[in-house]
Amino acid sequence: MAHERNAPGSPDDWWRRAVIYQVYIRSFADADGDGIGDIAGIRSRLPYLRDLGVDAIWINPWYRSPMVDAGYDVADFRDIDPLFGDLEAATGLIDDAHACGIRVIVDVVPNHVSDRHVWFQAALRSSPGSPERARFIFRDGAGPNGDEPPNDWQSAFGGPAWTRVSEADGSSGQWYLHLFAPQQPDLDWNCPDVDAEFLGILEFWLARGIDGFRIDVAHGLVKADGLPDIGYAYLGVLPNRVAEPHHVEDHPHWDREEVHDIYRRWRRLDDRYPHVTFVGEVVIEDFARTARYVRPDELHSAFNFPFVRAPWDAGALHDVIDDTIREFSAVDAITTWVLGNHDVTRVATRYADGDVEIGRVRALAAHLLMLGLPGGAYIYQGDELGLPEVWEMDPSVRQDPIFLRSGGADVGRDGCRIPIPWTGGGATCGFSPSDATAAPWLPQPDGWGAMSVATQTADPHSPLTITREALHVRRTHQGFADTSLSWVDDGSVDTLHFRRGAGVGVLVNLGKDPVPLPDGAHVLVCSASTGHTVPPNGACWYESV
Ligand code: NOJ
Repeated sequence: MAHERNAPGSPDDWWRRAVIYQVYIRSFADADGDGIGDIAGIRSRLPYLRDLGVDAIWINPWYRSPMVDAGYDVADFRDIDPLFGDLEAATGLIDDAHACGIRVIVDVVPNHVSDRHVWFQAALRSSPGSPERARFIFRDGAGPNGDEPPNDWQSAFGGPAWTRVSEADGSSGQWYLHLFAPQQPDLDWNCPDVDAEFLGILEFWLARGIDGFRIDVAHGLVKADGLPDIGYAYLGVLPNRVAEPHHVEDHPHWDREEVHDIYRRWRRLDDRYPHVTFVGEVVIEDFARTARYVRPDELHSAFNFPFVRAPWDAGALHDVIDDTIREFSAVDAITTWVLGNHDVTRVATRYADGDVEIGRVRALAAHLLMLGLPGGAYIYQGDELGLPEVWEMDPSVRQDPIFLRSGGADVGRDGCRIPIPWTGGGATCGFSPSDATAAPWLPQPDGWGAMSVATQTADPHSPLTITREALHVRRTHQGFADTSLSWVDDGSVDTLHFRRGAGVGVLVNLGKDPVPLPDGAHVLVCSASTGHTVPPNGACWYESV
């Protein structure tokens, strides 16, 4: 029996089995021709998202920002950056999306603001010890003249996490903390202004019809009293761009106990906005500690980074799936799954083992695996097309602060942020209008159009067509409605094979030989159709009675 689609009007716990599509706004669709994606572009592509069959979109930061870190340096949370549109366009998008049955999640960035934010500008003009400085983490420097950073903390983007300011009289002054770029000063969550301000920001967007929030650096925010040294060198971000988990054992700035109180306060918003959902970017090593963020009175879900980091290996993926289900069920939370985002190497490249075609085939199979699992799932824009990471780029066009701050030693994250190809031809493959005044903010490589939405829509075997079919089956087949998963022992160590409800089975072949489907199985969706077998690097959803 078919069950209804998650959509506005559906139950408040719509997020429990939602498929949420990540719109990286700068690179999704450019309507005004300035080479940067915008709100009008998203609005024009809503029919695509509706037909793809996603339940919600998560839009990366669209707020006023100097764009030092692609919008994660927010100058005003209550306004839209003119690059992307304005508030009216944002509310228009929310309404249009709802009319298409698509919910809207926005980013909230509570660990830091832009150095252009009025609070930080006021803090710079004020004296040490002032209430304006108390909203940030200003400290006197170490060493005889205060010339050294107050402690040994390092920025995630490289270099010390402290920058010294000049005081009003021109003298060298205090230092402020920034766990990311110097243009992203950390807020002090001990300051009541900060707490009140963020509750106000959440309400501001809820009043405009938003359905949820993705919380940036959700395991950050709170710092240990006294800001003690860490005592060991920060390892930096891994060169292959898979989000590095943070070591958290009594760490002075990750995963502090008090951060949970903040989310308990936020969760109380669901008294008045019962449909709201919070998803945390919790990048920590220990799964059991991640699960603490999704206890019943905290966030609804957290990104599953161990799943992102798992290699294309049946044993490794099996373990992550089991660990996820065990730890999340223990706190009564939904399981969620994700294969990509704007910070990590594209899945088609991670799984490629140097062979681009194999990478694309495996990426599609991995999506069938992910979408076949119980709970919610996130699709990063372009992963439904099997887009690869773009490594080759002229250094002069790269924009990621990781690249710039490492002096080019680390290529950074631009390679997974290339503008989407919508059409097979044209100067920008349909990303910008044909009369655009500027080139795409990151160049599209040769051959990009061959993977475009238009080309793949016309191909019944393309990753896009198969993903669309899978989302339709997932939405309409009763077997995907419940939360059960039971493993099938089919005698192979190279398969992932499990049953969901109503006779549905999922078989993923990570080995080198074809694997037969069980007797009597009727294929629902397959990443590659080869009759009654699942080829190497393939995945099938089947039904048997
Ligand atoms: C995580 C975001 O996903 C990333 O893009 C950003 O650079 C950092 N947080 C800092 O806000």
